[in-house]
Amino acid sequence: MTESGNRAVWGSKLGFLLAAIGSAVGLGNIWRFSYMTYENGGGAFLVPYAVALLMAGIPLLLLEFIVGHKQRGASPMALASVSKKWEWIGWWMPVVATVGIQLFYSVVIAWCLNYFVFSFSLGWGSDSGAFFFDEFLQLSSSPTELGSFNWSVVSATLIVWAVIWFICFKEVNHGIEKACSIFMPLLFVLTTILVFWSLTLDGAMDGIQHYLTPDWSKINVFSGRVETWKPWLDAFGQIFFTLSLGFGIMIAYASYLPKKTDLVSSGLWTALANCSYSVFAGFAVFGTLGFMAAQKGVPIDQVAKAGPGLAFVVYPEAISNLPFGNRIFGAAFFLTLVIAGLSSAVSLLEALICSLTDKFDWRRGRVATVLCLIGFLTSLIFTTNAGLYILDIVDHFVTNYALVLGGLLECLFVGWVLKAHVAREHVNSLGLRRLVKAWEILIKYITPLILATIIIRALLADLAKPYEGYAVSALAIYGMGMLLVTVVIAVILSVFKWRKGPVLHDSDEKHLLT
Ligand code: PHE
Repeated sequence: MTESGNRAVWGSKLGFLLAAIGSAVGLGNIWRFSYMTYENGGGAFLVPYAVALLMAGIPLLLLEFIVGHKQRGASPMALASVSKKWEWIGWWMPVVATVGIQLFYSVVIAWCLNYFVFSFSLGWGSDSGAFFFDEFLQLSSSPTELGSFNWSVVSATLIVWAVIWFICFKEVNHGIEKACSIFMPLLFVLTTILVFWSLTLDGAMDGIQHYLTPDWSKINVFSGRVETWKPWLDAFGQIFFTLSLGFGIMIAYASYLPKKTDLVSSGLWTALANCSYSVFAGFAVFGTLGFMAAQKGVPIDQVAKAGPGLAFVVYPEAISNLPFGNRIFGAAFFLTLVIAGLSSAVSLLEALICSLTDKFDWRRGRVATVLCLIGFLTSLIFTTNAGLYILDIVDHFVTNYALVLGGLLECLFVGWVLKAHVAREHVNSLGLRRLVKAWEILIKYITPLILATIIIRALLADLAKPYEGYAVSALAIYGMGMLLVTVVIAVILSVFKWRKGPVLHDSDEKHLLT
């Protein structure tokens, strides 16, 4: 094993990059990005998207890389080494990543696995909507009516957790790095096939036109219309989600880097690869939607959907209607989702594994086994008949509040507690690509201000109208309740004593906190 001290180290720079890209490129790149673009002014959305990438995405990604590399530990270690009072926030981030995202993310991958199998017989039949909601999920009528477990989803969820365990129980250079060096090229090949195949379909060009034609009036905030702010706020939300920021994942990944590393160029490459993948995959999504609209003779906005509706209702229908090779196309599409999802799912768990092994010095394999077991059992709630509703609520609260709050706290921590100039000097002292001074200004003032605005906007919208018209009690249990549970777990984990001390910054020695 490549080790420095007793911490594993990525086998190569490329290995690290592929793992970071693997975390970033996920289901969100396929079903979230293209829809956001379409809804927010088509090609014009790329302007707020690029602004968000430059103002929040890249600065925060670099921040996470720097913190992990400098402190040589996951977020609890990084925060505890500066102040024990902050430690619980360091725990909260990976705990939310696991409880708030991974539990449902693994079930969505399980749906994709089921649909991968259905593809070979076009098992969703002629009414893909009725199949998905009534037959496959057997969706109940409200989020609190759990009904029973859906056994085909339970078994696929077990497989997903087994794969996550298989990848995560080994040290990162043997597990995640190897997995991503297979997954990422495969993902690229599959996506390329899907894009070119989609572009040959009848009506594809109409779809692409809708995807990319810029509607500048939608993003023109100078027009004085309030709705022109939406694309800007959506762009920040999307950048955050897509780069896996705010959960300490990239902190954990960077903690396994060797001392001499070009952090700035790694950050730039990760962001570039992730965002180009999104734009590229959008061609497959909109090419297929264009085909679907042409087949039905309806305008494209009647077929365009985001999230599960796109992957499990619109896409299966389009697959069934393809002139040839539909089974292979379907299998390729769902395999793409499975692979993109798995490489993000392992990163979600890694943030917590890394945090626990840092603090308690437990054996990595054991931590992974216990977490995967608990993870599998708790994710079963999403395999019940109310699973889709619960997923929707949890996702809403995590992506709108927890994720952005995590990023905001990171900015405040690095900008004001650890001090932005100390973080920047760390990069510049490596003698490789330098980090510009503007980064400090962004991290201290601009990015936190933007993130605070996003949270306030989400809060105002939620207070004005319960999300998606769900019962307030359901929102309280699954949304607020879930967030509360994560805070409690984080506080509990933070009160234990460190078995291995957090590394104090500006020092290469390990110190025990007294
Ligand atoms: N970045 C992943 C995606 O786009 C999702 C993700 C979010 C993964 C947050 C980890 C943390 O699907």
